[in-house]
Amino acid sequence: QKQGFDWYMRKEIFEQPKAVADTLLGRLNQHGELMLDELHISPELLRRVNKIVIVACGTAFYAGLVAKYAIEHWTRIPCEVELASEFRYRDPIIDPATLVVTISQSGETADTLMAIRHAREQQAKVIAICNTNGATIPRESDAVIYTHAGPEIGVASTKGFTTQVVACYLLGLYLAQVRGMKYGDEIAAILAELETMPRLMQEVLDNQAPVLELAAELKDAPSVLFLGRHVGYPVALEGALKLKELAYIHAEGFAAGELKHGPIALVSQGLPMFVVVPPRGRDQLRDKVISNIAEVRARGARTIVLAEAGDDEARANADTFIELPKVSTLLQPLVATVPLQLFACELATLLGHDVDQPRNLAKSVTVE
Ligand code: M6R
Repeated sequence: QKQGFDWYMRKEIFEQPKAVADTLLGRLNQHGELMLDELHISPELLRRVNKIVIVACGTAFYAGLVAKYAIEHWTRIPCEVELASEFRYRDPIIDPATLVVTISQSGETADTLMAIRHAREQQAKVIAICNTNGATIPRESDAVIYTHAGPEIGVASTKGFTTQVVACYLLGLYLAQVRGMKYGDEIAAILAELETMPRLMQEVLDNQAPVLELAAELKDAPSVLFLGRHVGYPVALEGALKLKELAYIHAEGFAAGELKHGPIALVSQGLPMFVVVPPRGRDQLRDKVISNIAEVRARGARTIVLAEAGDDEARANADTFIELPKVSTLLQPLVATVPLQLFACELATLLGHDVDQPRNLAKSVTVE
């Protein structure tokens, strides 16, 4: 039941700290090593992998885009991310040394399932990241990493996304571990930081008031843009998708570095633009994103800046500042996505839409 929430979606947004904690539960042994016991693919085989292809649809695809940054950084294995609907019709280059990773909350998405069948025909190994025990996708894969988000009822994926991102991190860290990567210390530090994420996500949820006020202010906006860079780019795409799905407002996510290659032409007086700023420590990237904020603001955009607490330079260009906890860049999507989910949920509520059952959408897309 909704346990006092107006929508399942809002309840599921608030369940994310627990969902992430449950997805991390029992993954470390007493030596601080990562255990993925359910992954019935031998370490020898994982050491032979020379390419990873992540295949998914919708929000799960955006989780895959986040994963690419993390997996390539930790494992140095080339990682591609592809929409399942594109993958299966373009004769992709895969062979027994390719590891195909599919991501699906429902485990029933037709395009993702067809991609698995195609990959296995080429003798590639397939690992499914899935939230639904015994669904078709995990049954047809070689191995599965279950996210432990619990049932997701709202059509818009929320805790499904954040737990998929966590599962991808675990897979990347595990691959790095079995391949003896030189990032040993970093892996231990990231694992320790991952354990703190449920608490930090709760902090973001506890600080929802400014996001709700913002939704009330922007409820008549005809269009909203989202910018991000590095892992902030898929966060921007996800923020835009949530708004489209729930509020039926035109919304687009862009890579901030692409601004001058076209999207800046859309900027006009009062246009709301969300910008996800990388944490300090990634100063080259951060500086560029901060100058993007100044550029769009100078052209009249209303800037909504998501940046870590104490980032005064980011705040200086913000019409609205949404504070995020201080985390490593690669983990930032886990905290940065939450205010965007809350914003879309609240705005759709104010517009009187059915948040749990948006028009024209189904929870799992079992036809092409
Ligand atoms: O069940 P899946 O994760 O395979 O579903 C994939 C997409 O259909 C899904 O993420 C969709 O984009 C959601 N409505 C997003 O909120």
